[in-house]
Amino acid sequence: MIKVSNLSVRLSGKQVLHGVELEALAGKLTAIVGPNGSGKTTTLRAIAGEASYDGSVSINGYNIASLKPWELALKRAVLPQATVISFPFTVREIVRMGLAVGANTHPEEIDRIAQEALEAVDLAGFAGRFYQELSGGEQQRVQLARALCQIWEPVRNGEPAFLLLDEPVSSLDIRHQLTIMRLARNFCSRGGGVIAIMHDLNLTAMFADHMVMMKNGRVHAAGRPQEVMTDAVMENVFGCPMRVNATPTDAVPFVLPHTADA
Ligand SMILES: Nc1ncnc2c1ncn2[C@@H]1O[C@H](COP(=O)(O)OP(=O)(O)OP(=O)(O)O)[C@@H](O)[C@H]1O
Ligand SMILES: [Mg+2]
Repeated sequence: MIKVSNLSVRLSGKQVLHGVELEALAGKLTAIVGPNGSGKTTTLRAIAGEASYDGSVSINGYNIASLKPWELALKRAVLPQATVISFPFTVREIVRMGLAVGANTHPEEIDRIAQEALEAVDLAGFAGRFYQELSGGEQQRVQLARALCQIWEPVRNGEPAFLLLDEPVSSLDIRHQLTIMRLARNFCSRGGGVIAIMHDLNLTAMFADHMVMMKNGRVHAAGRPQEVMTDAVMENVFGCPMRVNATPTDAVPFVLPHTADA
């Protein structure tokens, strides 16, 4: 389990997070949603151990501040919101960077995992391509394959690993959005945990077990999508009138703006 208690972050003298509380369980997909600038990336970066903060963050009971970088790298892998690669690496090289840590050091094993990770993100034939020559959505899927390689086993020595994904489907077409969300769900069903920052509320409702809604650096609401997605909460958080409905067969909530007019 990832447990975040009383998390506060200041950036450039500005208080960005104010006492965020969050729990993400192994076996569950936890989605963080909220408007631009509400503190989602900052929260994920603190959980990843990539930002300084007040409060506490633990993974499987270990305070992340007490873990060495390589120990942290075996417990969680991170997909950042944006990744700039300045050198002409191939797709294979980037994905294999995820395998630099961990026990899977046999060259054949590394090749096999890298290839399987590329297949999982629907990039089977891309290993020899230069990363910089890929489309935005293809690059995003390469980065996800790299993160996936880092914690290839969702459970290691009896301990769940966590994927921390900052907008993993933001550049993807609808089919690949589903591919990646299913991949995340599959990681959970094999015992790992996922925290994913999402802007597509309907996709979130379809896949998330737990939804954390942020507003102005605070958690405004948290719970199952069915509990959290109400007209009032959506309008309050996003600042525009919204109508929440449910699919007829399996009652998955979906949301639409009231009107196209301002
Ligand atoms: N380095 C920084 N210095 C000062 N303020 C920052 C810095 N980085 C982020 N912020 C501010 O912190 C707030 C939260 O930013 P954050 O990136 O966490 O938002 P977010 O919820 O991920 O938004 P988005 O949906 O646009 O990605 C924003 O108001 C942002 O302007
Ligand atoms: Mg962000």
